[in-house]
Amino acid sequence: MTTISLSLDTPELAQAYEHGSDRQFNHGKLLIETLGVRRGQRVLDVGAGTGRLAAHVAEIVGPEGSVTAIDPLPLRVDIARQKARANLATAVGRAEDLSAFASKSFDVVYLNSVLHWLNEPQKERAIAEAARVLKPGGKLGFSTGSREKPHQLEPIQRKVLAELGRDAEGNRPHKLTVDEVRALLERAGFIADTVEILTFVDHAADVDEILRHSGSSSFGNHLSHLSPEEKREVRARLANELEAFRTPKGLRLERNLIFAIAHTAGN
Ligand SMILES: C[S@@+](CC[C@H](N)C(=O)[O-])C[C@H]1O[C@@H](n2cnc3c(N)ncnc32)[C@H](O)[C@@H]1O
Repeated sequence: MTTISLSLDTPELAQAYEHGSDRQFNHGKLLIETLGVRRGQRVLDVGAGTGRLAAHVAEIVGPEGSVTAIDPLPLRVDIARQKARANLATAVGRAEDLSAFASKSFDVVYLNSVLHWLNEPQKERAIAEAARVLKPGGKLGFSTGSREKPHQLEPIQRKVLAELGRDAEGNRPHKLTVDEVRALLERAGFIADTVEILTFVDHAADVDEILRHSGSSSFGNHLSHLSPEEKREVRARLANELEAFRTPKGLRLERNLIFAIAHTAGN
């Protein structure tokens, strides 16, 4: 199993994420809409990054509600903290350990583009912890990478790495299938409402924008197993391969995410 490191983040990567994460922000808004988050609710954002989506949710729940945004990366929490207000609190914390929060204390828990960064035992604990802190009938929602329908960039990247005699492993995310998501939810006692794969289309100006986004979204893990020379070579080869995806709007790439909505027994 590959290991995701939480020690590779830098102030530059954190800032790049704050300013270059429209993709996550936009599918996150869709996740929140699908969850039906409403005024007055108590919401926990797990793996909130720099807090863009949490700030949006704080607007929705209003002054009668509250959002708590946690993330293990202190540099990202520092940026999220600048958005803090009466109904939006931030803290350093991890999905697998929600011991800072009482049982049955939230109406909604969500993880937007977070779960694939956890290994399998961490995922189990994270979903079990979400079940514990949710009120009876409370809702869990997450978006996460799909293993059965990977991002269009993945096979291209694998090919380029194979040409250089390097594997595509490195610090790569641990994606799930729809069946694995269903089983994970069931083991934690959740009742699944929807588990489906959604496709999103992105346009990037060039390979550097794509690599910048991958670097900041992975908090430094993307291609971190390569030397600087190998990275330069990968960039050049990717740039070449990606020309096949050029459209008038830029390099058009599809990515697929599993969207899962579930609730705890109760109401
Ligand atoms: C792609 S970012 C998503 C950030 C945010 N949810 C958003 O929608 O923009 C992935 C986030 O997962 C967080 N993460 C990684 N491991 C985690 C863990 N064990 N528990 C909670 N969050 C984690 C990272 O720190 C990072 O901020």
